[in-house]
Amino acid sequence: MNILVTGGAGYIGSHTVIELLNSGHSVIVVDNLANSNRGSINRIEQITGKSVVFYELDLCNEDDLDGIFAGHTVDAVIHFAGLKAVGESEKNPLLYYGNNIESTLSLLRAMSGRVKKFVFSSSATVYGSAPVPYVETYPAGRDITSAYGKTKYMVEEILADYAKSEPAMEFTSLRYFNPIGAHPSGLIGEDPSGIPNNLMPFVAQVAVGRRDKLAIFGNDYDTIDGTCVRDYIHVVDLARGHVAALTHAQPGYHVYNLGSGKGTSVLELVHTFEKASGQIIPYEIAPRRAGDLPEFYANVDLAAKELHWQTELSVEDACRDTWNWQSKNPDGYNK
Ligand code: NAD
Ligand code: WQD
Repeated sequence: MNILVTGGAGYIGSHTVIELLNSGHSVIVVDNLANSNRGSINRIEQITGKSVVFYELDLCNEDDLDGIFAGHTVDAVIHFAGLKAVGESEKNPLLYYGNNIESTLSLLRAMSGRVKKFVFSSSATVYGSAPVPYVETYPAGRDITSAYGKTKYMVEEILADYAKSEPAMEFTSLRYFNPIGAHPSGLIGEDPSGIPNNLMPFVAQVAVGRRDKLAIFGNDYDTIDGTCVRDYIHVVDLARGHVAALTHAQPGYHVYNLGSGKGTSVLELVHTFEKASGQIIPYEIAPRRAGDLPEFYANVDLAAKELHWQTELSVEDACRDTWNWQSKNPDGYNK
């Protein structure tokens, strides 16, 4: 298939482009590089020995986007592009609603009548504070705290409605849990700009000496060791989940959790990283971070049954691969 990947220069998108190319598909990437680097596309080509068609474009620019669809035969779209910093979305909600919703509407209009399959990057955040493990049948969207999370839920709703009006089309939302890790080559990985918001890139930057110590946000939760528990999924497993979603896509609108189904605490992750990297991660216990839930992880039965997909890599593998990437590229793509 010819697959158009929005946000394909970013963290999850770049790993998915590799898996798509390795599965024999051709890829067109559209990305405005708002949170990524053109270098990731060069590295993808280096890893796979295959070329990628790249357009630097904001998806909200519908005329130019329409021109891309007019100029290529596109069999499927995977829509990663979006802004994803939870804290920033609280400070600037209009930026998040504008970018994440308008880009999706522009994309859906530009591909209308031209493309049959569509896969969207959703998030476990749409469950709000559901009982664990999170199951797809739970009514999502009830108590999402961030504007970012609401954009994910709103796009899911848009897709569900649009699917009813286009019964031959195949729409899939994939709800990611906590993606970590890097490609085993060490050539691509997560490269956040500024201070990392997420745990793993912060740990990795402490390990290479870019930051002094990790602040662990709370150790008084009702969990195994008092720190929050999350479902960490290796980004290569996650990338393969997209190939599976395209392969097994069905008409209508479908939602799948992509997680490991296992919970890991912050302290467990830090200790696993120390073991995998041979580095000591200095940390301090800091106050709880507003909006954090104590514990969540996925029920992964539906993806196993319908997509024939499950994780193959462990948190240890992800720590090893993160260290391989960060130690080889201490300043990310900017070195
Ligand atoms: P990322 O920031 O590395 O990648 C997103 C890409 O989209 C970036 O390359 C950015 O430049 C691009 N982009 C943003 N707005 C755009 C626009 N208007 N036009 C064109 N390109 C645009 O993030 P990621 O971690 O790879 O996440 C990919 C997707 O998965 C996002 O939609 C994110 O919300 C979702 N997601 C991520 C996580 C996570 O923890 N990383 C978890 C759940 C869901
Ligand atoms: C994990 C744990 C923190 C940083 C976020 C989004 C979610 C999804 C994935 C996109 C928490 C703790 C973190 C630090 C810490 N993204 N932590 N010190 O919050 O589970 O999920 O990313 O959809 O929507 O909310 O991930 O990596 O930020 O935090 O102690 O410096 O690590 O408190 O318990 P989170 P995270």
